[in-house]
Amino acid sequence: MTRLKLDISKVAPFLGEKCLPRFRNELLECHQELVGAKGKGRDFLGWIDLPVNQSSGLINRIQEDANWIRAVAEVFVVIGIGGSYLGPRAVIEALENPFRELTGKKGGPQVIFAGENLSEDYHARLLEVLDHKSYAVAVISKSGTTTEPAVAFRLIKQHLENKYGRVEAGKRIFAITDGSKGALKGMADKENYVSYVIPDNVGGRFSVLTPVGLLPVAVAGFDIRKLLAGAAQMRELALSSGDCEMNPCVLYAAVRNILYRNGKCIEILVSYEPGLHYFTEWWKQLFGESEGKEGKGIFPAGVNFTSDLHSMGQYIQEGMRTLFETVISVQNPSLTVTIPEDPADADGLNFMAGKRLSEVNRMAEIGTAMAHVDGGVPNIRIEVPAVEEATLGELIYFFEFSCALSGYALGVNPFDQPGVEAYKKNMFSLLGKPGY
Ligand code: PA5
Repeated sequence: MTRLKLDISKVAPFLGEKCLPRFRNELLECHQELVGAKGKGRDFLGWIDLPVNQSSGLINRIQEDANWIRAVAEVFVVIGIGGSYLGPRAVIEALENPFRELTGKKGGPQVIFAGENLSEDYHARLLEVLDHKSYAVAVISKSGTTTEPAVAFRLIKQHLENKYGRVEAGKRIFAITDGSKGALKGMADKENYVSYVIPDNVGGRFSVLTPVGLLPVAVAGFDIRKLLAGAAQMRELALSSGDCEMNPCVLYAAVRNILYRNGKCIEILVSYEPGLHYFTEWWKQLFGESEGKEGKGIFPAGVNFTSDLHSMGQYIQEGMRTLFETVISVQNPSLTVTIPEDPADADGLNFMAGKRLSEVNRMAEIGTAMAHVDGGVPNIRIEVPAVEEATLGELIYFFEFSCALSGYALGVNPFDQPGVEAYKKNMFSLLGKPGY
């Protein structure tokens, strides 16, 4: 049984009378196209079965390598960009104590990221830190040729070899890449790095449940079997029916497409848990790269409330009425903080005394949704009981499946990204790469 619940009660006034029944048939067809592998990009549907078809041998190997890394490294550097970066970061930062480094508790290596930018300062500071830390590296690139991670890997590989010598450095490098082609695959074979394969039929932004996400998440100390089990639950539901009344993925895809056709062309993913910041970044990539093409697509944005109620809140309440919100609503915190009574009550907050902080956060969420709906911003709500591995697995699969359906409803191929080449051609030409 899935634990995620989709609530569209605050969207109804914005849908128009006949829309949902009409979309019901349209989405039914999209579901058939996806499940029957008849739609655009059908060679990239490998993600559909990832929660259930990865061998226990592979999962055990990932766990064993993660245990080894946890034993030898204080820091695990994950090099990658886009789909080869955001998934692991989303899961780890959702589950990690943000103050872990200050707690003084040894909890395995700190997972940090590189190769997702070309900043000289960022990489200089990273290399300086690595001078004083024992570390291991995952280099993740499906194509094996992406500039940002390739540059970062060149820097870090040299640093690692200088620090440990070539043989020991080679043991500390884990390559996650294509099974047969690309520069990284060639290098991994030549240098004998431990390697994992990103399946041919899984695109970057759909790869979090492959070793791309699983190895870093396991190194961070989280339970990858629970993550996959949560995704498997959602998979069962997602595949079971193309009817929006039975399948929340279909309903979500239908509602966001109706809103889009009614002029709501910006979707804001909202969360009230700061740990979900990178989950939102992952979601933005998933939907932005999948749908934004051929002059079409909902623009995916993200905010962290209540922080951003004090910045973006003004625009959402009163700016252009082209927005809708999708809120990830977490029901239960894993820890407890109660607001204390203060005899002086100088801040006037004694009316909250004795309440859990999560209750105040919940009231902020409800009050904000009411205000935004009143202000003309439809509000989709996705409720999950807690932020833990299984619910993150459900959410990941829910969004992936919905995104594929939604792309089909939009009429685009949700599995390609032709537009990301344009900047690369210009950059290579400016840098004098032969042939550009
Ligand atoms: O979703 C995608 O396919 C992209 O975001 C890629 O993941 C990103 O460009 C990185 O590509 P690669 O893994 O080939 O280095």
